[in-house]
Amino acid sequence: MKKYTIQSEVCIYQDHELSPADRELVEAAKEATRHSYSPYSQFQVGAALRLQDGTVVTGSNQENASYPLGLCAERTAIFHAQHQHPQQPIVALAIAAYANGHFYPEAIPPCGACRQVMLEVEDRYQQPMRVLLYGANGTHVVSTVKALLPFQFISESLKK
Ligand code: THU
Repeated sequence: MKKYTIQSEVCIYQDHELSPADRELVEAAKEATRHSYSPYSQFQVGAALRLQDGTVVTGSNQENASYPLGLCAERTAIFHAQHQHPQQPIVALAIAAYANGHFYPEAIPPCGACRQVMLEVEDRYQQPMRVLLYGANGTHVVSTVKALLPFQFISESLKK
C-alpha cells in the first residue's frame, strides 16, 4: 500500500489587505448578487471574473421552477465570458453570497460542478486562475483551482 497527501494553500485576507484589483473584483461579485434570480433558495450568489486584458465580467445564480435547471453564479459568469471573450484567459474569479439580509459570513464554497467547470478554464487557457471566496469574516484566496479540486479529471484524462 502506498499513501500520499494532497495539500492546498489558502490565504485569508481582510478587506484592507486585498490589492486594489482584488478588492474591485470582490466588490463586483458582491454587487452581482443583486442580479441573482433566486426565488426558490433566497440565496443570492454573485461571481466576478477578471480577464487577462483587465475586463471584469459578472454573473449571478439563475434559478428555475424546475429546480435542477438553474445555474450557479460562477458558471453563468464563466460561460458568458468565454462566449463574449473566447481569446481572453480568465485570471481571477471572485464569489460572494447574500442571504437573510447579510453577506455570507464565511468564505462561500463553490459547488462541485462549478469547481469542475473552473478547472476546465485552467485546462483551456493553460494557466492558473486565482479564486477569491468572499466571506464577511475574510476572503479566502487560492492561486489555482487545483487547490479546490484535487485529483482532477481534465482533457488529458481522456487520453490515458
Ligand atoms: N449557488 C451558486 O450560485 N454557486 C455556488 O457555488 C453554490 C450554490 C446557487 C445555486 C442555487 O441557486 C443557490 O445557490 C442555492 O444552492
